[in-house]
Amino acid sequence: MSTPTLKIENLHVAIEGKEIVKGFNLEINGGEIHAVMGPNGTGKSTLASALMGHPKYEITEGTVTFEGQDLLEMEVDERARAGLFLAMQYPSEISGVTNADFLRTAINARREEGDEIPLMKFIKTLDKKMDTLDMGEEFAQRYLNEGFSGGEKKRNEILQLMMLEPKLAILDEIDSGLDIDALKVVAKGVNEMRSPNFGCLIITHYQRMLNYIKPDKVHVMMQGRIVKSGGPELAERLEAEGYDGLKKELGIEDETVNQEA
Ligand SMILES: Nc1ncnc2c1ncn2[C@@H]1O[C@H](COP(=O)(O)OP(=O)(O)OP(=O)(O)O)[C@@H](O)[C@H]1O
Ligand SMILES: [Mg+2]
Repeated sequence: MSTPTLKIENLHVAIEGKEIVKGFNLEINGGEIHAVMGPNGTGKSTLASALMGHPKYEITEGTVTFEGQDLLEMEVDERARAGLFLAMQYPSEISGVTNADFLRTAINARREEGDEIPLMKFIKTLDKKMDTLDMGEEFAQRYLNEGFSGGEKKRNEILQLMMLEPKLAILDEIDSGLDIDALKVVAKGVNEMRSPNFGCLIITHYQRMLNYIKPDKVHVMMQGRIVKSGGPELAERLEAEGYDGLKKELGIEDETVNQEA
């Protein structure tokens, strides 16, 4: 048995003392694409941020290993250098830093000193990947995400993914706000990454995305943990029924937001 790329066991995450992720388990092996679906506010983005090491998210219980190493012991930059990548639901804008400069710095930060990517090679690779993603040349010289439309930001996250070639990518709602053509382009980028050395966790609300990127497994997250796992047919069922059918089947009660006496 080879070591799983990512193994999450009984993970609990709290924000400002409130527990959001409550006993999450997941194992992703190289070459696998997993999808996590679930209602709003159920802790999907919290899970993603906690895995990247965002300081606001406190791990109160559980373990996470990345290629057999304790991920939770690693600093944020170490996690990125080890090959973990997060495409965020709301990518931030960075004024004054061009997209190309940002990418080159990020690539070099993951390489040993003295082994920086040669400029010409970088430019050639960037051109090629931008071409795959139907991105105009001007996006290389624009400030990172500044003034990008919602869809352009998402496409740019995939450009980062393709340039950085991580071992495991977490894509948080990479499909939200995309028109049909952009969705296909984004899917093409992810599919091009598919290899035995690449694992992927896709967080999405829509089965539509999974028509283009075929997941090996689909998981439903509710109230901070996975309540059901299956194949692509599970996503189809949710698309048809919403979450109510599953809640009934599993005997999950709605959480009360305000408990008044
Ligand atoms: N920084 C924060 N401060 C306070 N509460 C937070 C913070 N981040 C998340 N939460 C709360 O944690 C819960 C889970 O949020 P999260 O963003 O993880 O949900 P989600 O499953 O990604 O939802 P969506 O599908 O809407 O993106 C929500 O109730 C949210 O308000
Ligand atoms: Mg979210």
